[in-house]
Amino acid sequence: MPGIRAPSTYSEEPPRHPSLIINSKEPFNAEPPRSALISSYVTHVDMFYKRNHGPIPIVDDIESYHVDVSGLIGSPKKLYMRDIRSLPKYNVTATLQCAGNRRTAMSKVKAVRGVGWDISAIGNAVWGGAKLADVLEIVGVPKLTSVTQSGGKHVEFVSIDKCKEEKGGPYKASIPLSQATNPEADVLLAYEMNWEPLNRDHGYPLRVVVPGVIGARSVKWLDSINIIAEPCQGFFMAKDYKMFPPSVNWDNINWDTRRPQMDFPVQSAICSLEDVNIIAPGKVKVCGYAASGGGRGIERLDISIDGGKNWFEASRYQNPGIPYEADGVNSDKWAWVLFEAIVDITGNTEIAAKAVDIAGNVQPESVETIWNLRGILNTSWHKVQVRVGHSNM
Ligand code: MTE
Repeated sequence: MPGIRAPSTYSEEPPRHPSLIINSKEPFNAEPPRSALISSYVTHVDMFYKRNHGPIPIVDDIESYHVDVSGLIGSPKKLYMRDIRSLPKYNVTATLQCAGNRRTAMSKVKAVRGVGWDISAIGNAVWGGAKLADVLEIVGVPKLTSVTQSGGKHVEFVSIDKCKEEKGGPYKASIPLSQATNPEADVLLAYEMNWEPLNRDHGYPLRVVVPGVIGARSVKWLDSINIIAEPCQGFFMAKDYKMFPPSVNWDNINWDTRRPQMDFPVQSAICSLEDVNIIAPGKVKVCGYAASGGGRGIERLDISIDGGKNWFEASRYQNPGIPYEADGVNSDKWAWVLFEAIVDITGNTEIAAKAVDIAGNVQPESVETIWNLRGILNTSWHKVQVRVGHSNM
C-alpha cells in the first residue's frame, strides 16, 4: 500500500511510557496503572491502553497514503488525507474499552483464552476527524441508508497490520451501514486524539472510532473501506469477540451461533484502590470510572463498604464545572463518568461498586455467572479488599 507499510517483526515499535503495565510484549498490549485513569477525565495518550494484534505499521509518505472505498456502491474512490481533512471536522469525546477488560479476574474462576487485563483496558479521549457518514456521502451513499441499491448493508474496515490470527493478513471489522451513515452515531475516521495527530500505537494516520461499541470495531491504520452485504467474516468478527454462555467450551463451540459483540454493557471499576489494600482506619476516598455502551449514560453509581449488603450513591462527574446528567445535552453521551465517594472504614471489609445505566441495566453481581471461554465482558461488581493496619496511603 503506498505511503504506509506493515512490518512483520517487532524491531520498529514506537517508544512507550515506562509506567505502562505490559500484558504482552509482542504484539504490544499494555494498560496504565489504575490511578492514571482517575487523574483526569480525558486520558493522557501515553496512559491510554494499547491493544495490538501485530507489529505497528509505519507511514513513509503521508502524501501518497489513501483509503480505498469500494464494494456495493456506484463507483469506487481513493480518499487521500487531504480529502478527509476537507470534510467538516468533529471532536467526539468517546470512551474506548476492550472487550477483554477485566479478563484476568474472569480467568480466576476458570481458565479463559486471551491476553490478561486488569481494569484499565479502557480510556477516554477526544477524537478528532471526519464523520464516516460524510465520507460515505462523497462516494454516493446518502445519510441514513440501511441498504445500498446494490445490496450493501455493512461497512467493512480493513487495516494493513499483519495479524497471526488472520494468518499474517490484516485486522478487519464491520459495522451496519445504518450506523455508519447516521451522523448521530458519531462514527469517525479520526486523525487526532486529544487535539494531536494520532500516534503510531493508536492508528496513525487514520483510524475508525465507533463510539459506544467494543474497541475491537475501531480499526486502526485504515487501508480500505468496503460496502458489503453480510457482516465482515474476518477472524475478529467471526471467531472472536463473541459472548458465549458458561456451558460452551473449546470442544462444543460453534462460532456461527452467536453474533459479533457490538455495544459494550454497563461497567464500572474502582481505580483508587488495588485488589487488596492495607489502610489506616478513617475516611477513605473511593474513585473510579463507569461507562455503558450505545450512548447510554450512567444513571447511578452505587458503592458498598460491607461487601454488597448496603449501598449508597457516589457522585458522578465528567467535565469540570458542568454537572453530569445521564442524558443531558451538556454531557458527553459516548464518554465514561468518573465517580467519587468518601467512606468511613472502621475494620477489615470489602468495598464494591456497581453502575446502573439509563436503560436500567445493572452490573451482574458475580463473575461466575457470566464466565465465558474467551473471557470477554467481565462487568461483574468490582470489589476490593481493605485491611485495616499501618499504611503510608
Ligand atoms: N485495529 C487494528 N488494525 N489492529 C488491532 O490489533 N485492535 C482492536 C482495535 N483496532 C486492533 C485494531 C482492539 S481489540 C481494540 S480494544 C482497540 O483497537 C484498541 O485501541 P487502542 O490500542 O488505540 O487503545
